[in-house]
Parts: sequence; structure tokens; C-alpha cells
Amino acid sequence: MTKHIYWKGDSLYLLDQRELPFKKVYVRCNTLEDTRYAIKNMVIRGAPLIGIVAAYGFVLGIKEILKNKGFLNEKEIKRISKALLNTRPTAVNLLWAIKRMERAYDKYKEKQDIEASMLEEAVAIHVEDIENNRMISLFGAELIKDKDCILTHCNAGSLAMGGYGTALGVIKAAHESGKKIKVFATETRPYFQGARLTAWELYNEGIHVEVVPDNHVGILFHKKLIDKVIVGADRIALNGDTANKVGTFMIALCAKAHNIPFYVAAPVSTFDPEIESGNLIPIEERDGNEVKNFRGLPITLKKIKARYYSFDITDHRYISAFVTERGIIKRPFKRYIKMLFP
Ligand code: MRU
Repeated sequence: MTKHIYWKGDSLYLLDQRELPFKKVYVRCNTLEDTRYAIKNMVIRGAPLIGIVAAYGFVLGIKEILKNKGFLNEKEIKRISKALLNTRPTAVNLLWAIKRMERAYDKYKEKQDIEASMLEEAVAIHVEDIENNRMISLFGAELIKDKDCILTHCNAGSLAMGGYGTALGVIKAAHESGKKIKVFATETRPYFQGARLTAWELYNEGIHVEVVPDNHVGILFHKKLIDKVIVGADRIALNGDTANKVGTFMIALCAKAHNIPFYVAAPVSTFDPEIESGNLIPIEERDGNEVKNFRGLPITLKKIKARYYSFDITDHRYISAFVTERGIIKRPFKRYIKMLFP
């Protein structure tokens, strides 16, 4: 798998996911503003990766302040946090990573070499995410049977995380254990994370994958082609309501109607103990122009309006179970999700 995020010298390098799978272009981030741009403009995406990039962005912000002012204070730290938070509102991993970096600052603020300690914290967030994905994948692979045909939406693979993947990690681990699996990947308009990223990742692993237009979900279930659905998540409320890429809710409804299990694979950092239900999860609304154009080519008239909610909420009633690094969470969700936050 191509390296999609690494730190070298004093910079963060990110594989530009908007160009995949056709070109491998790296974007170099030297400043807080560079990382903000990368998150906001989809150079990178996927809830856990957004958190990891924000953690490195935090380090870049600190470096800049120390270089320009020679000292750090709480006000500057708050400014860094606010700037990063103000990029994409739905993925709670962003808030989670920023809070962790703020706690690290409190711990290391008196240290001589605070930059190095903060970088170590960002690296720890990155490495732990890969380890968590491995655990999620091992637990989740138990749910998958030989010859299962799995539907997934958007991209919850290595590219959306520090590495390996959550929903795709489960599929990869099942494949590595010798199970023969087929995957349908929805194309995921308008960014095509499914067609461009998920299909590419699975194809590279030697896993049978077929891309389907987003509007094919109903017919796939009708033809009894799906045994299981597995997706990632951007934020999970205490009652289990789940924000994920827009379109997920329709898939969950279809799965329920056809009595097919619908699984959500996500690290504990994607659960939000502050939020009781999905109604309270902020949903990112992106510029309608992202729907009206494809790679610079208009697909409707300029004067016609368009709307793009980047995520939707799947009610917990339609979710069969959550797969986390601590194990599988079954009903009653609220009781078990609360136990993640003693
Ligand atoms: O807009 P994106 O590409 O950041 O959306 C990503 C998703 O919706 C993923 O399914 C989600 O982050 C869960 S897996 C990391």
C-alpha cells in the first residue's frame, strides 16, 4: 500500500486523495494553515485520518508560534485548536485528537523541547490508530463467512485512517484468513470515494470488488446479492445513532427491509459520549458546486442550485452491531457504549 501520510524533517506529507487512483501526488504541509486547507478541501478525508492530520497540524502551529514569537501561551493554543476545529464539523475524531493534543500541551508546557514532545504525541495518535484498526479487523472478521458478499459505502479503508482500515480492515482480515469474499463498493458521489479509493484499495489486496452506482443499492438487495453491509462512521451518539457518508441511511433501511445485517466498524475515538442521539450531531453541508461539477466538467446548468450534505444519520434501530477495538457492541447499545467511557 502506498504511504498516504508521513512526517519528514519539519513537514507533514499527505497523499492527495483527490487525485487517486490515477496520480500519486503528495501535498507538503509546513504550516497550520496548510493542514487546515488539506482537511477542508479533501486532500485527505475519513474521520480517523482527519484527527491524525489535525494532531500533526497542531504541532506545525506550535512550531510557527515558537519561531515567530519565541513563546507559547494558552491563548495561542486555543487559537490553534479553534482553527483546526473550524474545518469539518461532523467527524468527532477531529475534536478527540485536538483535546488530546491540548492535554499533552498541559503536560509538556514547562519542558524545554516541547515541540519534540508534541510531535511524539501526534505520532502516538497515528500509531495507536493503526493498532486499533488491526483489533477492529480481527474482531470484525469473525462476523464474516466464507463466500459472503459484502456491500460497503464510501471509504473506510487504510486511506481513511492511520493505516489498514475499519470496515475495509474487517474485509481484508477475513480475506487474509482465507475466506473468499466479494465486495460491492458504491461509487459515493460526488467525491467518488467508493469508486476511486475503496475499489482501488480492495483491488490492490486481490479482493474481488465491483463498483456500483449509488442508486443500485435497492436492486442489489432485491436480487439477493448482499449477505452483509459494513461501513465506517464519522460520529456515533450514545444511543448508537451513527453519522456516516450521506447515503448510508438509505442502505441501512434497505438492509433492514431485507433482513440483512448492517455493521458499523469504528474506533472508540469515533464515539461521542457528549451526544445523546443523532439529532444533535452536526452535519457538514458542503458547497453545492461540488455536486454540479465533476473534475471541472459541469453536469448541470450553472444557474441551477444544488445541495450537498456530506453525511447522514442512521438510526440505531437499523444497526445490527458495532465493531470496535475493544470488541463487538450489541444491544442495548446505550448501556454498552456508556461503558466505553467509565
Ligand atoms: O467526506 P469523507 O470522505 O471524509 O467521508 C468519509 C466517510 O464518510 C467514511 O465512511 C467515514 O469517515 C468512516 S471511515 C473513516
